Amino acid sequence: MNKEELMQQIATATDYIKSKIDFTPEVAVILGSGLGPLANEVESPVTIPYSDIPGFKASTVVGHAGTLIAGTIKGRKVLVMNGRFHFYEGHPMETVTLPIRVFAAMGITKLIVTNAAGGIGDEQIPGSIMLITDHFSFFCKSPLLGPNLDEFGPRFKDMTEVYTHSLRELARKVAAENNISLTEGVYNYVTGPQYETPAEIRALKLLGANATGMSTVPEAIVARHCGMDVLGFSLITNKAAGLGSSELSHSEVTEIAHKAERNMVTLVSNVIKSI
Ligand code: HPA
Repeated sequence: MNKEELMQQIATATDYIKSKIDFTPEVAVILGSGLGPLANEVESPVTIPYSDIPGFKASTVVGHAGTLIAGTIKGRKVLVMNGRFHFYEGHPMETVTLPIRVFAAMGITKLIVTNAAGGIGDEQIPGSIMLITDHFSFFCKSPLLGPNLDEFGPRFKDMTEVYTHSLRELARKVAAENNISLTEGVYNYVTGPQYETPAEIRALKLLGANATGMSTVPEAIVARHCGMDVLGFSLITNKAAGLGSSELSHSEVTEIAHKAERNMVTLVSNVIKSI
C-alpha cells in the first residue's frame, strides 16, 4: 500500500467510527488474550464489529472478540478494542497498527495496552501483572518502515520514553490503593505464533527481558510516533519456555488470563478514572 492509500484507509476508518459515536473518547484501550471482561465495564456501550469498519479485520484468534466498544468507564469517555490484530495472523504491520493511527486521527491522546505474556523474571509468576517500563523490538518489523506519515509524526522518532512516566506513576498509585501487587519490567516482542525455545528465553533473560509476547510493541511504537501517551500492562499467564514444568498451550494462557482478569479490570478501570 502506498502512502496515499494508507492515509485514505486511515481517513475512511476514522470517518466510519466517528459516524457511529457522538463524542471524542479521551482514552483508547486495547485488550489482549483473555482480557475481554474489561469490555463489560463500559457503560452506555456502542459496539462496532471490526468486520463493519473499513480496513479492520475480523479476529482469527480464540479469546479475541473483534469488537470496538465506545462508551464510558468510571465517567471517562473511552474506546475499547476487544481483541487486536497480530502480525502472526498474516496481517501487514499497517493493519496491525491501523487502529492506533485511527485513534490519533480521532484526537485520542492516551493509549492503554494490555497483553498476555510469558514470565521471564523471577517475579513474573503466572497470574501476576507487570507494568511495562520499556520494550525490546529486536524481532519486530518496524511499523514505521516505508514513506513517513508526516501528518502523524517525524521520520526518526525518539523512543526514550515509550511508556509514559507519569502514567506509570499513576498505575503504581492505583495498584497500591487497590492492594494489587504490580511487578515491573521490560517486555520483549516475538512475532510468534510459535512460543520461544528455552535457549531463546535464556538469551532474553541475559539481555534483561522480564516478559515476552506477540503483541503490543508495534502498537506502542506507532502510538509514540503519533505523540500519544502510552501505558502498558502484561498479564503473566505462564512461565516462559524452559522455566516452568510443562509445555505451553494457548488454552493455559487464556485460562490463567481469565483467573487473573479481575485485578486487571480493577487496575485499568481505576487508572482510567484518574487519567
Ligand atoms: N511467549 C510468547 N507469547 C506469550 C507467552 C509466552 O510464553 N504467553 C502468552 N503469550
